[in-house]
Amino acid sequence: MRFPPTFLDEIRDRVPISSLIGMRVSWDRKKTNAPRGDFWACCPFHGEKSPSFHCEDKKGRYHCFGCGVSGDHFRFLTELDGLSFPEAVERVADMAGVPMPARDEQAERRDRQRASLTDVMEMATAFFQERLQGSEGAKARAYLRDRGLTPATQQSFRLGYAPDSRNALKEFLASKGVDKAQIEACGLVVFGDDIPVSYDRFRDRIMFPIPDSRGKIIAFGGRAMSADVSAKYLNSPETELFHKGNVLYNFARARKAVARGGTVIAVEGYMDVIALAQAGFENAVAPLGTALTENQMELLWRLSGEPMLCFDGDAAGLKAAWRAADLILPSIQAGRTARFALLPEGKDPDDLVKADGPDAFRAVLAEARPLAELIWMRETAGGVFETPERRAELEKTLREITSRIRDESVRYHYQQDMRERVLTFFGQRARPQRQGERGKGGGRQGGDKQGGQWSRGGQAQGRSPITESLGRSAIVKRTGELMSVREATVVVALVNHPALIDENFEHVEFLDLANSDLRRLHAALLDALAHEQANDRVAIIAMIERTGCADVWERAVALIRRTRQWPALENAAIEDARDAFNQVLHLHRSQRTLHRELKQAEAALASDPTEENYRHLVEIQAQFRDVQATEALIEGFGVSSGRAGRA
Ligand code: UTP
Ligand code: MN
Repeated sequence: MRFPPTFLDEIRDRVPISSLIGMRVSWDRKKTNAPRGDFWACCPFHGEKSPSFHCEDKKGRYHCFGCGVSGDHFRFLTELDGLSFPEAVERVADMAGVPMPARDEQAERRDRQRASLTDVMEMATAFFQERLQGSEGAKARAYLRDRGLTPATQQSFRLGYAPDSRNALKEFLASKGVDKAQIEACGLVVFGDDIPVSYDRFRDRIMFPIPDSRGKIIAFGGRAMSADVSAKYLNSPETELFHKGNVLYNFARARKAVARGGTVIAVEGYMDVIALAQAGFENAVAPLGTALTENQMELLWRLSGEPMLCFDGDAAGLKAAWRAADLILPSIQAGRTARFALLPEGKDPDDLVKADGPDAFRAVLAEARPLAELIWMRETAGGVFETPERRAELEKTLREITSRIRDESVRYHYQQDMRERVLTFFGQRARPQRQGERGKGGGRQGGDKQGGQWSRGGQAQGRSPITESLGRSAIVKRTGELMSVREATVVVALVNHPALIDENFEHVEFLDLANSDLRRLHAALLDALAHEQANDRVAIIAMIERTGCADVWERAVALIRRTRQWPALENAAIEDARDAFNQVLHLHRSQRTLHRELKQAEAALASDPTEENYRHLVEIQAQFRDVQATEALIEGFGVSSGRAGRA
């Protein structure tokens, strides 16, 4: 429940904190100075014989010099008596003789609904798991056994079985008091105006629960066991909980594995992820039946600067790899790129580890190529460059491709790298390449691969490692970036007031920060979240320190102080912090959206200079200026218009 601003202050002011705490401790008569509102007692949070627990009515706070606990009225009640926050508020309001405020019904309903949808998904998961063990589950158990999944693996991924029934799940949930609307909102039944009676969406399928980045189940994938069913995998539809393009299967577990060492690996299917985990690669994730999206790339980059993207070793797989390369190219940066691994033709990671063992997969990973090389190979594969015109054309294409990189320094180094490749390529070959006169177009259909492995064709042979110059380059070095007040406010407020994280989780997950230092803070925050420590400021800061971001944190806080964004600081009341945060988050999101649109409009105009594209650009520029003006109006942003404070 949310409380209107000032209400909490009012009741806190009316009730001396000593009268509340005095009900639970006996004050030490010697040390206490009651008339001054200064109280001492043995700490109720830890066992002790001499009083080191102090509370002061004027400040409305307590602190123990022995064990370090501290807080206000509500903290005392929630931590010592285990009350929920609203219950604590109610207790204090009662003591203050102040009636509880009217509830913000709409916000509460939303919160309740979201919580209850995950509860329903959890119930469904348990139901499917149980059915897998029951008599109806015999066929499914045999199927999983035949696919080589041990019972331990099945358990740890919480695999289940949806019985062959149109209403088994529906009735089970109804018997637990879940109402029809919730079952529908979870996407667990098929329903609609033209369907008289809704029915279970998943029938006679192996069920793969899909957790979100915090491990809560938000969707399912269901696999048919026989080949004659029309959809091999059936996935949950988009729901309030589940947005397919924002989720990676196994993300929460992979994050833990990556924290122990290694990089994250993206593969194509659920089964691949599970088989890899069983073979000892617990750091694999998969998109959910679609090509990787930008948001999924963001998730990968949150775990590793250079995630491994693994594709099937056939023409379709290579196409998917190129598609992914084109997707990420514009947004690569220092510490934000990818490597590409291609599997032997006709095998997915599941087949590979089963047939040839973990080492075979390790070999595939060892063969993975950097992005620059993938692009080079695509443009030169099977190409014939025997005339100066064709060479010029190749150079032009490479220039065009590298120009899509938005980061100036990385773009420069890519251009240099491509120039070096061209020189080595043509310099090394005395005669024109003759292998295949298909021309470049034909080569794009995977013609440069042999047996699913990367080509060892003429063009790549004998060169010093191509990435060397990239490795030496500023790609690994950060340029002096500016930290915007807006972005710093968002991040600092979240760390100092962790309640805001849960309230805005779907936005907090994808903040799209321009500043790479703040992105590191954001990553640390999400790490803390993954460790269920996100409602604890101290734990978040510990995580920030552990991930080597202490200096960034200090700089961000210093910027906030300098620009007087007080509500983001630790001692601001949560209501003030919330107001300021909501405002700045809204601004941030509009700014980033417009920024993206602006870049797109610029690119559109550059590649297609029509009147229409020009007008579009001018319009976006105007909107962008509007948002910047709003930003400047917000107190504290004025001086800086979001660009102050050299980081
Ligand atoms: P694949 O067809 O490669 O299946 O689809 P797979 O992962 O190897 O599964 P098995 O080994 O046959 O059991 C890759 C991914 O594409 C999605 C699923 O997410 C699957 O894991 N997919 C596939 C669907 O969503 N629907 C389909 O009908 C097929
Ligand atoms: Mn498979």
